[in-house]
Amino acid sequence: MSKKIKVGIIGAGTIGSVHADAYAKVANAEVVALCDILPNTLAEKAKRHNIPLKYENYKDLLANPDIEAVSICVPNDLHAPIAIDAFKAGKNVMLEKPMCLNADQARKIVKARDKSGKILQMGMVRRQSNEADIIKKLIEDGRLGEVYQIRVKLIRRRGIPGLGGWFTTKARSGGGGIIDISVHALDLSMYVTGLWNPTAVSAKTYSKFGWPIENYNYVSMWAGPPKMDGIFDVDDYAAGLIRFGDKATLSFEVAWACNAQPENAIEILGDKGGVKLEGSNIVLLTEFDNRPADIKLDYDARRDGFASELEKFIGAINGENEVPATGEQGVIMMRVLDAIYKSSDLNKEVEI
Ligand SMILES: NC(=O)c1ccc[n+]([C@@H]2O[C@H](COP(=O)([O-])OP(=O)(O)OC[C@H]3O[C@@H](n4cnc5c(N)ncnc54)[C@H](O)[C@@H]3O)[C@@H](O)[C@H]2O)c1
Repeated sequence: MSKKIKVGIIGAGTIGSVHADAYAKVANAEVVALCDILPNTLAEKAKRHNIPLKYENYKDLLANPDIEAVSICVPNDLHAPIAIDAFKAGKNVMLEKPMCLNADQARKIVKARDKSGKILQMGMVRRQSNEADIIKKLIEDGRLGEVYQIRVKLIRRRGIPGLGGWFTTKARSGGGGIIDISVHALDLSMYVTGLWNPTAVSAKTYSKFGWPIENYNYVSMWAGPPKMDGIFDVDDYAAGLIRFGDKATLSFEVAWACNAQPENAIEILGDKGGVKLEGSNIVLLTEFDNRPADIKLDYDARRDGFASELEKFIGAINGENEVPATGEQGVIMMRVLDAIYKSSDLNKEVEI
């Protein structure tokens, strides 16, 4: 039986606000509490989103027995400790990406979920798009045949978020562009193809643009301006190859900053056809009258992915649907990310 779920949001920054706006579109959700360690941010955001209860310590929010679910929207190093505490307090957890800092932490989160019997959903919002549905169906319908190669290109020319802040401090973020933006494209690729068996990685990460901070000429930066006395000790460019057994591979190039034209594309190559997702354009690469032919698919790209994922989170709590992105898949993703960094450090291919 469907009921209204009282929600608390932990972290009132950029994505905390996005969650607040999105929950407002979910009929069975009521955001009753907000938490942030910064009193001014907390007051301003609670007022903006009309949230009645304010907490500066997340443990006080978790102690409120009326709250059944939390969205965790804090810096990456706090994902694991807060998620584990939330499960101990009997809450259902919507956890923003990346799941946490590494696979060890990810397994601990899943263990805490299992012990609590509550719901864990990962914030893989790109799955909640019409393009994800369309491409998944093309593949399931056999339009591409056997998928054997995926090409991910996620290139920002100058787009380091919060230079000098927590995003660029490895101890707080776990890494740079790889852990921050590649998760979306890698997850989408594995989701639509069903390739959840990554076996090995060969990769190299680089750090060429963020340091010294005063030398960085940024043209687009969110969570900016740069914090000149801050830290930059993470990757701003990475390239590599992920193997899925001996049947398929995924090559990737991911940059927060580099001297190349910006790109945002995923191409999936099968033996019968291919598909290219560029921004929200979908092109099917096929044949017509024995000639190669490209078909641009016409579809409505508008959909609020965040509202869609939060609706499913609330639905899962009410027993109406499965969670769309599981903790188990989150663990696989963290194992891939760990392997990318390890391969780069060791300068050789590593097993996942
Ligand atoms: N799904 C997406 O597309 C997407 C987009 C942006 C960010 N994110 C993820 O969301 C998370 C937050 O990113 P952001 O851009 O909102 O960062 P942000 O820096 O804008 O906000 C983080 C907020 O957390 C608060 N905070 C820090 N420690 C806290 C604590 N102990 N208790 C409560 N609040 C605390 C900070 O004061 C800040 O207001 C990150 O993990 C990021 O990767 C996801």
